Order: sequence, then structure tokens, then C-alpha cells
Amino acid sequence: MPELTPAEVAKLYGSRFLTEDAPDGAFPASGMPALDAMRLVDEELALEGDPWRNLATFVTTWMEPEAQRIVSENLHRNFIDHAEYPISAEIEQRCIRMLADLYNAPGETTGCRTQGSSEAIMLGALSLKWKWKERREAEGKGTEKPNLVFGGDVHVVWEKFCRYFDVEPRIVRLREDKYVIGPEDVEPHVDENTIGVAVVLGTTFTGHADDIPGINDLLLRIKEEKGLDVPLHVDAASGGFVWPFLYPHSEWDFRLEQVRSINVSGHKFGLVYPGIGWLVFREKADLAEDLVFYENYLGKTDATFTLNFSTGASMVLAQYYNFVRLGREGYGWVMQAMEENAKALAGKLEENGNFELIGADKEQLPLVAFKLREGKDYDEFDVSWQLSAERGWMLPAYTMPPDAEEVKVMRALVKETLSRSQVDRLAADVAEACASLEKKGGAHAAERKRVKRSPGY
Ligand SMILES: Cc1ncc(COP(=O)(O)O)c(C=O)c1O
Repeated sequence: MPELTPAEVAKLYGSRFLTEDAPDGAFPASGMPALDAMRLVDEELALEGDPWRNLATFVTTWMEPEAQRIVSENLHRNFIDHAEYPISAEIEQRCIRMLADLYNAPGETTGCRTQGSSEAIMLGALSLKWKWKERREAEGKGTEKPNLVFGGDVHVVWEKFCRYFDVEPRIVRLREDKYVIGPEDVEPHVDENTIGVAVVLGTTFTGHADDIPGINDLLLRIKEEKGLDVPLHVDAASGGFVWPFLYPHSEWDFRLEQVRSINVSGHKFGLVYPGIGWLVFREKADLAEDLVFYENYLGKTDATFTLNFSTGASMVLAQYYNFVRLGREGYGWVMQAMEENAKALAGKLEENGNFELIGADKEQLPLVAFKLREGKDYDEFDVSWQLSAERGWMLPAYTMPPDAEEVKVMRALVKETLSRSQVDRLAADVAEACASLEKKGGAHAAERKRVKRSPGY
């Protein structure tokens, strides 16, 4: 038998990366067999967090096999090539019309798919800025000092918008007993340079909604008394697929006159994998025409309103799949199932005696926000650490935004993948983590450094 070199033996019997470092710097000089490359990536990911135990994320971690098939069979389809893929473009329009219907738009409207709520918010807020400029210029007034009003309970993307696009952020600070905003908070900040007010339906921090009807009434009063038409944009990143099904009689959408635009993440409670968001305007006139680009690309004149260009069509198709697969009834069933399980978890955490719930009696996303009762020798960050060390759950602890930064919160998203028996298991694991902490005291300083400290998205 011929003698084989170690490299030949490895080639014959196993992956090169059993004994070599993974390429991580210089561009690899040569390649490797497809199987080796696949194993390399798989092995690298083996130590990553398990999405099924990720109770921090709002983002979808499971779709039906039929939906997965649609996703994987259409990854090669570039959504922006409308000339080549007109059916994908039409399916986007169908989704927008369905969302406009869900949000009670009064008539014909417009909107677009985006990469997520962040892109949708950038585009929606840009439209607010442009429309404000148009109004000011028509009145012969200055356009140097635009401002945008929102609460400290918003996602970071709103401050990002203000910095990137030169708008003064007017942020209503939270309080230790108040984690959403209402008309009394907004009123002092609104003036003739206000391009809009942004409100949240389902905050990242506790899952509650700002007082949107109250703020709408305020803006109507300002319109009547001062002649200022200040639009409302609803950041319904999470709530846009929850409220219509769990709280259909709550008015937060286009039923309210000042609500001019809404964003929602398809990849959160829209139940699609990451990479899809939506922006819907109340009516066509709410989209600033100057922001739409008409170009002749690949043989067809196309209108685009987007910050990106090329992107996959898969998630648009998967969103449409969910809309037709579930309909209002099916989404309703899924949301109710999540809510029931969230309530079951909340009940068990209360029984446990160590925790108090945050706003469980109010309209809320299907999640449990809670904190430790006073007088413990350990804190929420310790519980988060202990739980991940003992059982691998990713259940975040974080502090609230200013001026409520002294308040520490834990939050468990209860998604489709958390069955009732897992809820029971989780509650028992939380109780065990507390028992361990009672015995040994808080986590070591080195352990604490590894605790997840943001609310997760
Ligand atoms: C209220 C809110 N707005 C905006 C975003 C950003 O959404 P996306 O991750 O879809 O860009 C999030 C994400 O968690 C959110 O909770």
C-alpha cells in the first residue's frame, strides 16, 4: 500500500479543520472541498446561542417547513429587478394593500417593503421631514431647524435618524413609575418646526403602548388652535401584528386622524425570518414625491423609495405565504396562544414569590416583563447569568432608559416556539436559579461581565 502524507490522510478521512485553525485573517490562498467548508461553518456556529432558547429576541426563530421551502427556493431572486421579477413586485404590493386594510386606511394608499423596521423608520421619518419642508416653503418660512418629538421608550433607530439626517431630537424622559408617554409629555415640545411625533406600539423595554389616542387628540387640538398640522408616525415594529388581533378595538392606527404612517417588522410578530419590514402611509399624498426615484433600469422605468437596492425576494414571498396561510383568524390564534402562555409564565413567576410583574394588567406584547422584589442579596443581572449558566436560557436583564435608569428589568418573549411545557420548565428553572443565588449570593464580578445587558431585538 502506498504511504499517504498526513494531508492526504486528512483529505481521505476527515475535515482539515479537525487539526487546523479556521481561516480568519488573510484572504485564503486556496479553497477547500464543499463538504469541509460546510463543516467548518457548522462547527463555528455550534457554540453560538440556541435561537430556540433566546427569550430576548422579538425576531422569528421558526417557520413552517412549507414556508422554509419558499424561502430557500427563492434566495436567488433579486427583489429590486422588477422588470425581470414582476410577480415578486406584485406580491409586495398585495402585502401592502393587506396591511393598509389591517390598519384601517381610509382609501388607496402606498408603502414599501424594507429590510426591517429600522429602514422603514428612516424612510417614514424622511418623508415627515420632506413634507414639513414643503409646508414651510409654501408659507415662505425657514427650514433650518426641524425637530422630532418622541419618548425615551423608543428604539435607538429614532435617535440614529435624527443624527444621520440632521433633525433635533426632542426626547421625553421616562420616570421610575412611567415607561410610556402621553399627551401631557408631548405638548411642551411641539412647535412650528416639529416635523412629527413618533409613538411606539409595543415598546422594546416592557411591551406597552404610548397613549396614541391621547396624543392624536392633542395634535388635533393644536391643529385647531394654532393651525399646525403635526403628523403622527406609529412605530409598530412589534405591536403592528399583535394589537389588530389581541386588541382589535383599541384605536392606534389610521382610524386616528393624525396617524399618517406606520412601520411594522414582518420578521417580528409578522412571523417571518429576519430581513423584512414594512412602511405603510395613510394615503399616497403622505409620501413626499421628491423622495421617489424614477429610473430606467434593465429596460423598465421603475419607481424606488428605498435606502438599499439589491435584496432577496424570499422574505417578501414568505410574508405573503403567512398572510394567505393564516389570515386574520390564524394570526389571531397564534397571538392568543402566545398571550396565554405569557400569562401562564407570569402567573408562575408571581407564585414564585421573588418577582413582581411590570404592567401585566395593561395591553402588552406577548411577553413577561418583571423585576425582583426588594430586599434580595442578588439582582436581576445575577438571575439572568445563573439561568444561562444552569440551563442555557437567554433571558435578558437591563436597565430602563433615562430618567428611569435605576430600574432593572427582566423580560421573556413568549413566542410560538415556547410551548406550555417549556413555560413550566422555564418557570421551574428560574426558581432553581433563585434558590442557587440564595445559597451562594450574587454572581461573581467576572460572571456579571458576561451577562446580556441590552433588551434584545
Ligand atoms: C419598537 C421598535 N422599533 C424599531 C425596532 C427596529 O426594528 P428592526 O430590527 O426590524 O430594524 C425595534 C426592534 O426591536 C423595536 O422594538
